[in-house]
Amino acid sequence: MGYLEDEVKRLHTVLGNVEGRLKALEERQFGKSSGKTAEEIRMILIGPPGAGKGTQAPKIKEKFSCCHLATGDMLRSQVAKKTPLGREAKKIMDQGGLVSDDIVIGMIKEELDHNPECKGGFILDGFPRTVPQAVGLDSMLQARKQTLQHAVELQIDDALLVARITGRLVHPASGRSYHATFNPPQKPMTDDVTGEPLVQRSDDNAEALKKRLATYHQQTAPVVDYYRNTGIWKAIDASQEPNQVWKSLLAIFDGDKAKAQSSGAGILSRIAHPSRS
Ligand code: AP5
Repeated sequence: MGYLEDEVKRLHTVLGNVEGRLKALEERQFGKSSGKTAEEIRMILIGPPGAGKGTQAPKIKEKFSCCHLATGDMLRSQVAKKTPLGREAKKIMDQGGLVSDDIVIGMIKEELDHNPECKGGFILDGFPRTVPQAVGLDSMLQARKQTLQHAVELQIDDALLVARITGRLVHPASGRSYHATFNPPQKPMTDDVTGEPLVQRSDDNAEALKKRLATYHQQTAPVVDYYRNTGIWKAIDASQEPNQVWKSLLAIFDGDKAKAQSSGAGILSRIAHPSRS
Protein backbone atom coordinates (compact mmCIF):
# COMPACT_ATOMS: atom_id res chain seq x y z
CA MET A 1 0.00 0.00 0.00
CA GLY A 2 2.87 2.34 0.96
CA TYR A 3 4.41 1.83 -2.46
CA LEU A 4 1.09 2.61 -4.24
CA GLU A 5 0.56 5.80 -2.24
CA ASP A 6 4.10 6.96 -2.96
CA GLU A 7 3.71 6.17 -6.64
CA VAL A 8 0.39 8.08 -6.86
CA LYS A 9 2.00 11.06 -5.10
CA ARG A 10 4.95 10.92 -7.47
CA LEU A 11 2.71 10.77 -10.55
CA HIS A 12 0.65 13.74 -9.26
CA THR A 13 3.86 15.72 -8.92
CA VAL A 14 5.00 14.73 -12.43
CA LEU A 15 1.60 15.71 -13.91
CA GLY A 16 1.59 18.99 -11.97
CA ASN A 17 5.03 19.83 -13.31
CA VAL A 18 4.05 18.96 -16.88
CA GLU A 19 0.89 21.12 -16.63
CA GLY A 20 2.88 24.02 -15.15
CA ARG A 21 5.53 23.75 -17.87
CA LEU A 22 2.85 23.62 -20.61
CA LYS A 23 1.08 26.68 -19.20
CA ALA A 24 4.34 28.62 -18.96
CA LEU A 25 5.25 27.72 -22.56
CA GLU A 26 1.77 28.70 -23.81
CA GLU A 27 1.99 32.01 -21.97
CA ARG A 28 5.40 32.64 -23.53
CA GLN A 29 4.04 31.74 -26.96
CA PHE A 30 0.79 33.74 -26.82
CA GLY A 31 1.27 36.34 -24.07
CA LYS A 32 -0.34 36.09 -20.65
CA SER A 33 -3.63 37.89 -21.19
CA SER A 34 -4.04 37.53 -24.96
CA GLY A 35 -6.91 35.07 -24.55
CA LYS A 36 -5.31 32.95 -27.29
CA THR A 37 -4.95 29.24 -26.92
CA ALA A 38 -2.49 26.68 -28.23
CA GLU A 39 -5.29 24.22 -29.00
CA GLU A 40 -6.01 23.27 -32.60
CA ILE A 41 -9.51 23.88 -33.90
CA ARG A 42 -11.27 22.30 -36.88
CA MET A 43 -14.79 23.60 -37.25
CA ILE A 44 -17.48 24.82 -39.61
CA LEU A 45 -20.00 27.63 -39.19
CA ILE A 46 -23.37 27.06 -40.86
CA GLY A 47 -26.06 29.71 -41.10
CA PRO A 48 -28.22 31.69 -43.52
CA PRO A 49 -26.99 34.92 -45.16
CA GLY A 50 -26.57 37.56 -42.47
CA ALA A 51 -26.57 35.09 -39.55
CA GLY A 52 -23.17 36.43 -38.46
CA LYS A 53 -20.69 33.85 -39.77
CA GLY A 54 -18.35 36.50 -41.13
CA THR A 55 -18.70 38.55 -37.92
CA GLN A 56 -17.78 35.71 -35.53
CA ALA A 57 -15.22 33.78 -37.62
CA PRO A 58 -12.40 36.37 -37.31
CA LYS A 59 -12.73 36.20 -33.51
CA ILE A 60 -12.35 32.42 -33.61
CA LYS A 61 -9.34 32.83 -35.92
CA GLU A 62 -7.82 35.30 -33.43
CA LYS A 63 -8.42 32.96 -30.47
CA PHE A 64 -7.01 29.80 -32.05
CA SER A 65 -4.49 31.27 -34.54
CA CYS A 66 -6.03 29.14 -37.25
CA CYS A 67 -7.06 29.95 -40.83
CA HIS A 68 -10.48 31.41 -41.68
CA LEU A 69 -11.65 30.10 -45.04
CA ALA A 70 -14.72 31.88 -46.38
CA THR A 71 -15.73 30.56 -49.80
CA GLY A 72 -17.81 33.70 -50.45
CA ASP A 73 -14.72 35.91 -49.91
CA MET A 74 -12.60 33.65 -52.12
CA LEU A 75 -15.18 33.85 -54.91
CA ARG A 76 -15.49 37.65 -54.54
CA SER A 77 -11.70 37.91 -54.88
CA GLN A 78 -11.97 36.04 -58.23
CA VAL A 79 -14.77 38.44 -59.25
CA ALA A 80 -12.59 41.45 -58.37
CA LYS A 81 -9.71 40.03 -60.44
CA LYS A 82 -12.15 39.45 -63.33
CA THR A 83 -10.88 35.88 -63.85
CA PRO A 84 -13.00 33.52 -66.00
CA LEU A 85 -14.17 31.82 -62.77
CA GLY A 86 -14.95 35.23 -61.24
CA ARG A 87 -17.02 36.28 -64.26
CA GLU A 88 -19.03 33.04 -64.14
CA ALA A 89 -19.39 33.14 -60.33
CA LYS A 90 -20.63 36.75 -60.26
CA LYS A 91 -23.70 35.87 -62.33
CA ILE A 92 -24.57 32.98 -60.04
CA MET A 93 -23.90 34.94 -56.81
CA ASP A 94 -25.97 37.95 -57.88
CA GLN A 95 -28.86 35.59 -58.61
CA GLY A 96 -28.56 33.97 -55.17
CA GLY A 97 -27.58 30.54 -56.55
CA LEU A 98 -24.63 28.28 -55.68
CA VAL A 99 -21.35 27.91 -57.54
CA SER A 100 -20.54 24.30 -58.52
CA ASP A 101 -19.50 21.87 -55.78
CA ASP A 102 -16.30 20.83 -57.59
CA ILE A 103 -15.06 24.42 -57.77
CA VAL A 104 -15.57 25.23 -54.08
CA ILE A 105 -14.29 21.83 -52.89
CA GLY A 106 -11.15 22.45 -54.99
CA MET A 107 -10.70 25.92 -53.47
CA ILE A 108 -10.91 24.58 -49.90
CA LYS A 109 -8.54 21.67 -50.65
CA GLU A 110 -5.99 24.06 -52.13
CA GLU A 111 -6.07 26.23 -48.96
CA LEU A 112 -5.93 23.31 -46.50
CA ASP A 113 -2.98 21.85 -48.41
CA HIS A 114 -0.97 25.04 -48.89
CA ASN A 115 -2.04 27.84 -46.54
CA PRO A 116 0.46 27.86 -43.64
CA GLU A 117 -2.16 29.43 -41.33
CA CYS A 118 -4.20 26.22 -41.60
CA LYS A 119 -1.49 24.36 -39.64
CA GLY A 120 -3.18 25.68 -36.46
CA GLY A 121 -6.53 24.34 -37.65
CA PHE A 122 -9.33 25.97 -39.60
CA ILE A 123 -12.70 27.59 -39.44
CA LEU A 124 -14.83 27.15 -42.56
CA ASP A 125 -17.37 29.91 -43.17
CA GLY A 126 -19.97 29.26 -45.86
CA PHE A 127 -18.64 25.76 -46.64
CA PRO A 128 -19.96 23.07 -46.85
CA ARG A 129 -23.20 24.43 -48.27
CA THR A 130 -24.50 21.23 -49.89
CA VAL A 131 -24.39 17.57 -48.83
CA PRO A 132 -21.89 16.68 -51.63
CA GLN A 133 -19.60 19.45 -50.26
CA ALA A 134 -19.91 17.92 -46.75
CA VAL A 135 -18.99 14.50 -48.17
CA GLY A 136 -16.06 16.12 -50.03
CA LEU A 137 -14.85 17.69 -46.78
CA ASP A 138 -15.06 14.34 -44.97
CA SER A 139 -12.87 12.67 -47.63
CA MET A 140 -10.36 15.54 -47.47
CA LEU A 141 -10.10 15.21 -43.69
CA GLN A 142 -9.93 11.42 -43.81
CA ALA A 143 -6.96 11.67 -46.18
CA ARG A 144 -5.29 14.01 -43.65
CA LYS A 145 -6.21 11.67 -40.73
CA GLN A 146 -8.18 14.50 -39.14
CA THR A 147 -11.73 14.87 -37.89
CA LEU A 148 -14.06 17.83 -37.58
CA GLN A 149 -14.58 18.96 -33.98
CA HIS A 150 -17.57 21.30 -34.30
CA ALA A 151 -20.38 21.99 -36.74
CA VAL A 152 -21.98 25.11 -35.28
CA GLU A 153 -25.31 26.28 -36.67
CA LEU A 154 -26.17 29.97 -36.24
CA GLN A 155 -29.97 29.88 -35.99
CA ILE A 156 -32.01 32.96 -36.77
CA ASP A 157 -35.43 33.78 -38.17
CA ASP A 158 -35.44 34.88 -41.85
CA ALA A 159 -37.43 38.01 -40.95
CA LEU A 160 -34.47 39.42 -38.98
CA LEU A 161 -32.04 39.06 -41.87
CA VAL A 162 -33.36 41.71 -44.26
CA ALA A 163 -32.22 44.62 -42.05
CA ARG A 164 -28.84 42.97 -41.42
CA ILE A 165 -28.13 42.33 -45.11
CA THR A 166 -29.40 45.60 -46.57
CA GLY A 167 -27.43 47.62 -43.97
CA ARG A 168 -24.15 45.73 -44.35
CA LEU A 169 -21.06 47.63 -45.53
CA VAL A 170 -17.82 45.86 -46.41
CA HIS A 171 -14.17 46.69 -46.88
CA PRO A 172 -13.43 44.59 -49.99
CA ALA A 173 -9.66 44.19 -49.47
CA SER A 174 -9.86 42.74 -45.94
CA GLY A 175 -13.42 41.36 -45.88
CA ARG A 176 -14.12 43.45 -42.73
CA SER A 177 -17.80 44.08 -42.42
CA TYR A 178 -19.81 46.80 -40.69
CA HIS A 179 -23.48 47.65 -40.39
CA ALA A 180 -24.95 51.10 -41.00
CA THR A 181 -26.99 50.83 -37.76
CA PHE A 182 -25.82 47.82 -35.70
CA ASN A 183 -22.06 48.26 -36.13
CA PRO A 184 -21.30 51.58 -37.86
CA PRO A 185 -17.75 52.58 -38.87
CA GLN A 186 -16.21 55.54 -37.02
CA LYS A 187 -16.44 57.70 -40.16
CA PRO A 188 -19.37 57.11 -42.55
CA MET A 189 -18.58 54.72 -45.44
CA THR A 190 -14.90 54.50 -44.38
CA ASP A 191 -12.92 51.50 -43.11
CA ASP A 192 -11.71 52.11 -39.52
CA VAL A 193 -8.33 50.46 -40.13
CA THR A 194 -7.21 51.63 -43.59
CA GLY A 195 -9.40 54.70 -44.17
CA GLU A 196 -10.41 53.18 -47.53
CA PRO A 197 -14.02 53.39 -48.78
CA LEU A 198 -16.62 50.82 -47.79
CA VAL A 199 -19.00 49.32 -50.37
CA GLN A 200 -22.25 47.40 -50.43
CA ARG A 201 -22.08 43.86 -51.89
CA SER A 202 -23.90 43.49 -55.22
CA ASP A 203 -25.95 40.57 -53.79
CA ASP A 204 -26.92 42.50 -50.63
CA ASN A 205 -30.36 43.65 -51.71
CA ALA A 206 -33.82 42.49 -50.67
CA GLU A 207 -34.54 40.69 -53.97
CA ALA A 208 -31.29 38.67 -54.11
CA LEU A 209 -31.63 37.92 -50.39
CA LYS A 210 -35.00 36.23 -50.99
CA LYS A 211 -33.31 33.87 -53.48
CA ARG A 212 -30.29 33.31 -51.22
CA LEU A 213 -32.60 32.34 -48.36
CA ALA A 214 -34.57 29.96 -50.59
CA THR A 215 -31.28 28.37 -51.72
CA TYR A 216 -30.20 28.08 -48.07
CA HIS A 217 -33.37 26.29 -47.00
CA GLN A 218 -33.33 23.93 -50.00
CA GLN A 219 -29.65 23.06 -50.23
CA THR A 220 -27.92 23.94 -46.96
CA ALA A 221 -30.57 22.87 -44.41
CA PRO A 222 -29.80 19.21 -45.34
CA VAL A 223 -26.16 19.89 -44.35
CA VAL A 224 -27.41 20.61 -40.81
CA ASP A 225 -29.15 17.20 -40.83
CA TYR A 226 -25.93 15.62 -42.11
CA TYR A 227 -24.08 16.79 -38.96
CA ARG A 228 -26.98 16.67 -36.46
CA ASN A 229 -26.43 13.04 -35.50
CA THR A 230 -22.65 13.04 -35.52
CA GLY A 231 -22.23 14.43 -31.99
CA ILE A 232 -20.36 17.53 -33.22
CA TRP A 233 -23.44 19.65 -34.15
CA LYS A 234 -24.42 22.50 -31.83
CA ALA A 235 -26.89 25.32 -32.38
CA ILE A 236 -26.56 28.93 -31.21
CA ASP A 237 -29.24 31.64 -31.10
CA ALA A 238 -27.81 34.09 -33.66
CA SER A 239 -30.50 36.73 -33.04
CA GLN A 240 -28.67 37.77 -29.87
CA GLU A 241 -26.33 40.74 -30.03
CA PRO A 242 -22.84 39.89 -31.38
CA ASN A 243 -21.09 39.72 -27.97
CA GLN A 244 -23.71 37.33 -26.69
CA VAL A 245 -23.26 35.11 -29.78
CA TRP A 246 -19.51 35.15 -29.09
CA LYS A 247 -20.15 34.08 -25.47
CA SER A 248 -22.27 31.17 -26.73
CA LEU A 249 -19.36 30.12 -28.96
CA LEU A 250 -16.93 30.37 -26.05
CA ALA A 251 -19.25 28.14 -24.00
CA ILE A 252 -18.94 25.48 -26.72
CA PHE A 253 -15.13 25.72 -26.66
CA ASP A 254 -15.10 25.69 -22.83
CA GLY A 255 -17.30 22.58 -22.92
CA ASP A 256 -14.50 20.86 -24.84
CA LYS A 257 -11.94 21.82 -22.22
CA ALA A 258 -14.19 20.59 -19.39
CA LYS A 259 -14.64 17.26 -21.21
CA ALA A 260 -10.88 16.89 -21.69
CA GLN A 261 -10.25 17.74 -18.03
CA SER A 262 -12.87 15.34 -16.71
CA SER A 263 -11.42 12.48 -18.77
CA GLY A 264 -7.97 13.41 -17.37
CA ALA A 265 -9.43 13.43 -13.86
CA GLY A 266 -10.91 10.01 -14.63
CA ILE A 267 -7.46 8.64 -15.32
CA LEU A 268 -6.10 10.27 -12.17
CA SER A 269 -8.92 9.00 -10.00
CA ARG A 270 -8.36 5.50 -11.38
CA ILE A 271 -4.68 5.81 -10.45
CA ALA A 272 -5.63 7.11 -7.02
CA HIS A 273 -8.45 4.59 -6.49
CA PRO A 274 -7.53 1.49 -8.52
CA SER A 275 -10.49 -0.43 -7.08
CA ARG A 276 -12.92 1.84 -9.05
CA SER A 277 -11.59 0.85 -12.49
P1 AP5 B 1 -21.19 34.25 -48.67
O1 AP5 B 1 -20.25 35.38 -48.81
O2 AP5 B 1 -20.78 33.07 -47.88
O3 AP5 B 1 -22.57 34.86 -48.16
P2 AP5 B 1 -23.69 34.27 -47.18
O4 AP5 B 1 -23.62 32.87 -46.76
O5 AP5 B 1 -24.93 34.70 -47.87
O6 AP5 B 1 -23.36 34.92 -45.87
P3 AP5 B 1 -23.15 36.42 -45.59
O7 AP5 B 1 -21.71 36.78 -45.84
O8 AP5 B 1 -24.16 37.25 -46.34
O9 AP5 B 1 -23.57 36.48 -44.08
P4 AP5 B 1 -22.77 36.24 -42.73
O10 AP5 B 1 -23.42 35.13 -42.00
O11 AP5 B 1 -21.30 36.15 -42.96
O12 AP5 B 1 -23.15 37.61 -42.01
P5 AP5 B 1 -22.24 38.78 -41.44
O13 AP5 B 1 -21.43 38.30 -40.30
O14 AP5 B 1 -21.50 39.49 -42.54
O15 AP5 B 1 -21.61 33.71 -50.12
C1 AP5 B 1 -21.97 34.58 -51.15
C2 AP5 B 1 -22.31 33.75 -52.40
O16 AP5 B 1 -21.15 33.03 -52.84
C3 AP5 B 1 -23.37 32.67 -52.22
O17 AP5 B 1 -24.68 33.20 -52.35
C4 AP5 B 1 -23.00 31.70 -53.35
O18 AP5 B 1 -23.45 32.14 -54.59
C5 AP5 B 1 -21.49 31.74 -53.35
N1 AP5 B 1 -20.90 30.69 -52.47
C6 AP5 B 1 -20.23 30.91 -51.30
N2 AP5 B 1 -19.87 29.75 -50.73
C7 AP5 B 1 -20.31 28.76 -51.56
C8 AP5 B 1 -20.27 27.35 -51.49
N3 AP5 B 1 -19.69 26.72 -50.47
N4 AP5 B 1 -20.85 26.65 -52.49
C9 AP5 B 1 -21.44 27.26 -53.54
N5 AP5 B 1 -21.52 28.61 -53.66
C10 AP5 B 1 -20.97 29.36 -52.68
O19 AP5 B 1 -23.39 39.74 -40.88
C11 AP5 B 1 -24.29 40.39 -41.75
C12 AP5 B 1 -24.56 41.82 -41.23
O20 AP5 B 1 -25.23 41.75 -39.97
C13 AP5 B 1 -23.28 42.64 -40.99
O21 AP5 B 1 -23.53 43.97 -41.37
C14 AP5 B 1 -23.04 42.53 -39.49
O22 AP5 B 1 -22.41 43.71 -38.97
C15 AP5 B 1 -24.45 42.37 -38.93
N6 AP5 B 1 -24.51 41.44 -37.79
C16 AP5 B 1 -23.81 40.28 -37.63
N7 AP5 B 1 -24.13 39.69 -36.46
C17 AP5 B 1 -25.07 40.50 -35.87
C18 AP5 B 1 -25.80 40.43 -34.66
N8 AP5 B 1 -25.64 39.38 -33.81
N9 AP5 B 1 -26.70 41.41 -34.39
C19 AP5 B 1 -26.87 42.45 -35.26
N10 AP5 B 1 -26.19 42.59 -36.41
C20 AP5 B 1 -25.30 41.61 -36.72
